[in-house]
Amino acid sequence: MLSNLLFVVFAVTGAVFANNNGVGLKPPMGWDMWCTNGRCERDYCDAKEVMDVTDAMVTNGMKDAGYEYVIISDCWADHRDENGNIVPDKDRFPDGLVPVIQHINSKGFKAGLYTDAGMYTCSPGGRNHTIPGSYGHYEQDANAYASWGVEYVKVDWCSTKVNGTQLDPHKQYQEMSEALNKTGKPIFLNSCEWGIDKPWEWMHQYANSWRTGPDHHDDWKTTSKIIELNADLGDYAGVGKGWNDPDFIMTGGQSCNTVDSSHCPGMTDTEYRTEFTLWCLMSAPLLVVTDVRNMTSIMKEVLLNKDLIEINQDTTGPGGKRIGFDKTCGENVCQIWAKNITNGEKAIALYNADSVSHNITLEFSLLGWKMVNIRNLWDGTKYYNFTESVTVVVESHGVQAYRASAVQ
Ligand code: GLA
Repeated sequence: MLSNLLFVVFAVTGAVFANNNGVGLKPPMGWDMWCTNGRCERDYCDAKEVMDVTDAMVTNGMKDAGYEYVIISDCWADHRDENGNIVPDKDRFPDGLVPVIQHINSKGFKAGLYTDAGMYTCSPGGRNHTIPGSYGHYEQDANAYASWGVEYVKVDWCSTKVNGTQLDPHKQYQEMSEALNKTGKPIFLNSCEWGIDKPWEWMHQYANSWRTGPDHHDDWKTTSKIIELNADLGDYAGVGKGWNDPDFIMTGGQSCNTVDSSHCPGMTDTEYRTEFTLWCLMSAPLLVVTDVRNMTSIMKEVLLNKDLIEINQDTTGPGGKRIGFDKTCGENVCQIWAKNITNGEKAIALYNADSVSHNITLEFSLLGWKMVNIRNLWDGTKYYNFTESVTVVVESHGVQAYRASAVQ
């Protein structure tokens, strides 16, 4: 009987164990090169870009705000040598990756790299499936990354049909996870199979974060779709599990071209505020991909919002989620999101998904409260002893976000 009981306890706790590599205790924050020197997917990355951005993250306030990782995306690898070792692109990284990683470390950041679980990476920017993925080389690559000082690895899911057979993500991510752990170095693993196999239900065993859906582009269409996809996933995120990854943050817009660092925003400032607010409430990774060497005013306002970052990094409870609607606006339009945070407080977002503005009413009974104190997370205004409900105007695609506590 006792042994049966022990078995049950082990099976239950075993099932919720996360990839126990000691990292990822909070949602990761950082920069990834995806939309900086040129448009998203077309970024011409090279050593100079990565080092310049690293320097900028010190002077522009991002380091002080908590951004920690500098991640080199799908652009650095070139081919395998005769021993199967992965070789960086000589034109982009003439001295290899080590000096770049050392530079990243010297400024107080951790370095991240991209690879793919399949035969080839997704290879944007015209190099259509010619960059080798890690398939067949998981240990060899993990050892190389560890020896170079890499502390974060994104593992993508392109070219995963091998000799006509579709690879199994459970098996591949487990193998990659074991290979990384075997290096003895704590390396954050971000899996990216685009939510196809509901990774939020099982990936925590192998990875520290998992993409929950398709690529996020710098437009409202994909932003709103990704918000919807993640609305109910909050409980899967948290310490001892890992983090739902809705994909990169697009604040300020993708870059126009590879020559200068101008911005071509695909969304309005309101939409960038909404994106960041909900990513923070979801406890999502905050991985910025736009050109932070040249921060526009909306980038500074959003990316350095300490109050929202604090909500994001608060790991008291699981990730936030949608907890209800104000149905007077119509179906699925006026949404109420919440995340439990420290001291019994809650972060609240009133989100208007519609193309016209709406009054949104939050009944405090939805929070289990009668009277509340609230502080606006965007403008800092405070309101005390609100009773029963609050009604605010929320512009189209906008949010009003608060930190709230119950008045006893
Ligand atoms: C896939 C991923 C993206 C990006 C690219 C790189 O599309 O979903 O986030 O990493 O590959 O090529």
